[in-house]
Amino acid sequence: MAASRQFELPAPDFERFSRLVRQASGIYFSKNKAEVLRSALAQRAGIVGASDLGKYYDFVNSIRGGGELVRLLEHLSVQETQFFRNRPHFEALRKYIIPELARSKEDERRLRFWCAGCSTGEEPYSVAMTVLDILPDPGSWSIRILGTDLNEVALRRAARGWYPEQKLACVDRQHLRRYFEPEKDGYRLGDDVRRLIRFRRHNLVKDPLPVESLGGCDAVFCRNVIIYFTHDTAKFVIERFFDVINPGGYLFLGHSETLWKMSTMYSLVEIGDAFIYRKPSPGQGSRRFIPDRRLRRAGLPPGVEHDRRLAGRDRRRDSQAGRPEPERQEQPQERRQEDEPAPPSSQKVKEKARQYISRGEFGKAVSLINQALAPAAADAETYFLLGLAHEKANEPEAAREDFRRALFLDANLSLAYFHLASVLEQAGELKSAIREYRNAGRSFEKNPPGAWETELEAFDARSLVNLCRRKIETLKQSA
Ligand SMILES: C[S@@+](CC[C@H](N)C(=O)[O-])C[C@H]1O[C@@H](n2cnc3c(N)ncnc32)[C@H](O)[C@@H]1O
Repeated sequence: MAASRQFELPAPDFERFSRLVRQASGIYFSKNKAEVLRSALAQRAGIVGASDLGKYYDFVNSIRGGGELVRLLEHLSVQETQFFRNRPHFEALRKYIIPELARSKEDERRLRFWCAGCSTGEEPYSVAMTVLDILPDPGSWSIRILGTDLNEVALRRAARGWYPEQKLACVDRQHLRRYFEPEKDGYRLGDDVRRLIRFRRHNLVKDPLPVESLGGCDAVFCRNVIIYFTHDTAKFVIERFFDVINPGGYLFLGHSETLWKMSTMYSLVEIGDAFIYRKPSPGQGSRRFIPDRRLRRAGLPPGVEHDRRLAGRDRRRDSQAGRPEPERQEQPQERRQEDEPAPPSSQKVKEKARQYISRGEFGKAVSLINQALAPAAADAETYFLLGLAHEKANEPEAAREDFRRALFLDANLSLAYFHLASVLEQAGELKSAIREYRNAGRSFEKNPPGAWETELEAFDARSLVNLCRRKIETLKQSA
């Protein structure tokens, strides 16, 4: 973000802009993200020709600037997505949920899914491909997948259904051959997939639920969206989904999102390696709470692994029946909290995660953080550690997202720029890598890295700045 310094954002302006953005979209900028907000505002102000951010605020709120708020929200929202993101979710769909729906809805033959906050469409297309893979005789079913987002630019790209080759890294050859057609320098999804999906603009915090397009929904995917919201906005959005999800239907959240301390309306089920929320069916009791097992901290860590091994035993038993694992009846949350020892502090969790990373046990670091820390407790350092573990475990897409989140929370996190640059370089996105090495170099000058990462302890700030310069020079020659 190379916005000019002439656009200052004094505290009262920060307050009114962050309130405006929060009220219009749910996206929350805390004070430590003021520089991210300022830089984005400065870019938009430059585009519309406002000479300072006070004038830009007036323009956004004027009749003349009617569409500018929409453009601003598009500029501020994080669009990161990918095909088949969070594989365990798609495995759960493939192995359990779709087969179960195929059986239970054999007479009705109607399936409805909603991808809320679908960005450029990779998520609804992945759902559509999975349904077509598994459902016997899909042509005889009424299948509709609604993809919504507040970002119209992203939705236009989604509706086009064309993706450059590098966006297809997570699509295996079989799916590529079966559902895509080569077009220009990329691939376009075929009509059999595209016809299942409708895209439309929808703001989760402002617009009425799209019930007329969906009726009752078998599953809502709202992944990696509420993480940018305040607790209250996230709660409001999640509880509204309850009205469109069929009894027994599913709610998919992102891998670091949880309803813990937010809503007791849904049950948490563990299906294969995925955690998914479920609306209870009649007869189960409408608000039965199944504790979030990712957050059962008694005995954790390393009891997390012990817990998961037990879950694995249950899973094998259930998978033999070919059904999702039944929800377990457990103590209500309040009782459980009284009985259990205090959770480990987030500092302890991070220390342990760092030890795992330095021992090369990257998967353990990721599981530990995801299962022992609520997103509310996740700070920039947590996302940085997750990013590091994902990067070293060769999961560049997840790493990239984690580093961006870390930077969203702390724009001065030099090492996150550096690692983001390195992930982008590996992916061949050289221009973006150069930009991030530049950010890293600038940031190292202002904020020496500290001892967060043992491998870089030997470097002082000056050598890191020089390293970034050398990287930029080399990359410029190939870009
Ligand atoms: C990080 S992307 C997630 C995409 C996809 N769900 C995934 O997990 O890969 C977050 C998306 O949420 C959208 N979003 C943010 N606030 C929203 C709101 N209030 N209403 C609808 N969409 C919103 C953003 O525009 C962005 O496309």
